[in-house]
Amino acid sequence: MPISIPIRVAHQAAPKPKLAMPFAVPGQTILTSLPPLALYVHVPWCVRKCPYCDFNSHAAPDTLPEARYLEALAADLDQSLPLVWGRKVVSIFIGGGTPSMLSAETVDAMLAMIRSRLPLLPDAEITLEANPGTVEAGRFQAYAASGVNRISLGIQSFDDASLKALGRIHDGNEARAAIEIAQRFIPRVNLDLMFALPGQTADACRQDLETALSFGTTHLSVYHLTMEPNTVFAKYPPILPDDDVAFEMQDVIEERMTAAGFEHYEVSAYAKPGARCFHNQNYWEFGDYLGIGPGAHGKLSFHDRILREARVRSPDTWMAQLLAPTEGATHLAESRVVPPADLPFEFMLNALRLSDGVPTASFTERTGLGLQVISRPLAEAVRKGLLDPDPTRIKATPLGARFLNDLQELFLGDPET
Ligand SMILES: C[S@@+](CC[C@H](N)C(=O)[O-])C[C@H]1O[C@@H](n2cnc3c(N)ncnc32)[C@H](O)[C@@H]1O
Ligand code: SF4
Repeated sequence: MPISIPIRVAHQAAPKPKLAMPFAVPGQTILTSLPPLALYVHVPWCVRKCPYCDFNSHAAPDTLPEARYLEALAADLDQSLPLVWGRKVVSIFIGGGTPSMLSAETVDAMLAMIRSRLPLLPDAEITLEANPGTVEAGRFQAYAASGVNRISLGIQSFDDASLKALGRIHDGNEARAAIEIAQRFIPRVNLDLMFALPGQTADACRQDLETALSFGTTHLSVYHLTMEPNTVFAKYPPILPDDDVAFEMQDVIEERMTAAGFEHYEVSAYAKPGARCFHNQNYWEFGDYLGIGPGAHGKLSFHDRILREARVRSPDTWMAQLLAPTEGATHLAESRVVPPADLPFEFMLNALRLSDGVPTASFTERTGLGLQVISRPLAEAVRKGLLDPDPTRIKATPLGARFLNDLQELFLGDPET
């Protein structure tokens, strides 16, 4: 029986590792070089909460507290700077929530605030997530002038009935208009689609793809709609297409995207050559990221340890703790050194999502652990046909990609070692 593959990419690819069994590893992580550093900025508000969504997003108040949010963001970044002194930032992802609810002035001030504190590579990818129901030409032109060079649009579907069933604030016409506006002003535009939607047929899924492709888009993220705990859909589940239909849709997506010249480079991501999302690719290659804003996660490497951080999720508490801190309380919900025994699984959770995998040497570069600590699970994965036998790359076979959870779990550790 196929197990379910985690199809959706959290923008913050913060893995939720199960408690790993101890590997026989040295007690200390020693990194001889640090990976690329990205910055994630979380914007926690949406026009309204979608019934399927478990992101840290909240229905916005009548007036967004943009000035206060920006002030808190600057304080959050200031407090984080000692963790990344001297490092250049390779990409910024302003995610949410719905960052396109922010005014042009706020996005401009946000990017100026970041640039004044952190050195950015001159060609840094700067992505902003947008909901088609909040797209306006004037604002998008201004975002571009401030340095945003990539937009990720949450289209989900072009079909009015599907959009209604998903509780979206936009319809098919608004989705099409939003793409045109984004493409007019921003050099790179990603479209998010979801499939296996309530009442959706394989033909309707194909039609959504055709419409997306008709805009000449170069990057598509296609997510299997998942029922997440603590959402309205978890409480009142909609009637979804059965597994056979969902598999048929996956085949349709694979065939159509390949025929259109896209590389299926990650579980849910398709790109034309040269159009991959640099920021997400860095997550999957086990790169570093600083996350600021409510609920944001971070992963930061040092020569002797890897740190994981999370901010408190409530926007009001996060702002209050940064702007008027109460004694003993902090805007951080978590800050912990990752035990070396957890690193193999965390690394594989990300790297094996990439269709090309990663160079084998990057395991040691990114975790500080010798390859020998995973020699047993590596051999077992190859023996089971889940991992490519090429010793220079860590890469899932087509079977391994299909049974990705099984493959990743082999790296949870071996109680006997
Ligand atoms: C933060 S949202 C994108 C921007 C904006 N908030 C929007 O929805 O238009 C990120 C993407 O995650 C996907 N997503 C959210 N919840 C999902 C779920 N339960 N199952 C699958 N994909 C989901 C959607 O495709 C969505 O566009
Ligand atoms: S607009 Fe996006 S982030 Fe906001 S609730 Fe809907 S899916 Fe979630």
